[in-house]
Amino acid sequence: MNTIIETKGLTKRYGKTAALDALDITIKKGEILGYLGPNGAGKTTTIRLLLGLIKPTEGVALIFGQEVDHNAAKLHKRIAYVPGETSFWPNMTGAETLRFLATIHGSVDAKYETELIKKFEFDPNKKVRNYSKGNRQKIALIASLSTRADLLIFDEPTSGLDPVMAKTFRDEVLVAKSNGQTVFLSSHMLEEVEELCDRVAVLRQGKLVELGTLEELRHLSALTIEASFRSIPPDLSHIQSVSNIDIQGNHLRCNVNGSIDELLLTVAKAKPLSFLSRKPSLEELFLALYDGAENEQA
Ligand SMILES: Nc1ncnc2c1ncn2[C@@H]1O[C@H](COP(=O)(O)OP(=O)(O)OP(=O)(O)O)[C@@H](O)[C@H]1O
Ligand SMILES: [Mg+2]
Repeated sequence: MNTIIETKGLTKRYGKTAALDALDITIKKGEILGYLGPNGAGKTTTIRLLLGLIKPTEGVALIFGQEVDHNAAKLHKRIAYVPGETSFWPNMTGAETLRFLATIHGSVDAKYETELIKKFEFDPNKKVRNYSKGNRQKIALIASLSTRADLLIFDEPTSGLDPVMAKTFRDEVLVAKSNGQTVFLSSHMLEEVEELCDRVAVLRQGKLVELGTLEELRHLSALTIEASFRSIPPDLSHIQSVSNIDIQGNHLRCNVNGSIDELLLTVAKAKPLSFLSRKPSLEELFLALYDGAENEQA
């Protein structure tokens, strides 16, 4: 069976707020899906629904072809989950916590767990209350990865990790993918999303607003054009696809979204000294995708 996650009209309302609004998404086996969106967009709500920790107001989530609502306990044997904030038992050591989590899950690759402890440079002998935030996060990451579960669900897993450990995490997620595991990754980290994700989904105010590969989504964001002229740049304000026109002396900078014919003709007529067009950087793309966030908490 090739479909690992499927949601149909999946909705969660809290009073009048639709934390998640009619989500339809399908994730295939072996895929790494990046799940993005500004704070409060509904990412954690989606994850809780997928895990059966909360019930949908409407719609349905299926994992491995089975309805989450009625099969949560059974499904959890094939899923490993890392929440954004971990809370473990303060008096247990790291090693005891890992043992306990492994017992709850039911199966763990002990050899791989040992490897992960080394790779994450984790000292398992301290009490949980004495670990730093990043080290507590490592417990959750090691525990989840070492299950080799068919489906890994991560909610902002690297928010407390230093860059070296964040890289270790990315390497291990790629190992999971090469083993045929499927990954649902909620993240705000550009690097993580760029390196790992086959497709990204973007949520805004509970609604899925974009879904595709990063390359596909790049087309949604405007090209940046820069040109310089012998004298004052031509007027482009009448061209519909052009926005953010910025003129400094003889230098022009603007964005173009969609057709570029008219812009090129107008610029060419003015005989530019230089002309440069570039795709949006990943950061610009993210900002464009997140745009509209400011109204979201209203
Ligand atoms: N138990 C709850 N009761 C009421 N409202 C809730 C509850 N849980 C979530 N919400 C609301 O649902 C919306 C989505 O929240 P959610 O936690 O899913 O966002 P998120 O995308 O994970 O954000 P972040 O990036 O900050 O983690 C928010 O408006 C939030 O206030
Ligand atoms: Mg969240």
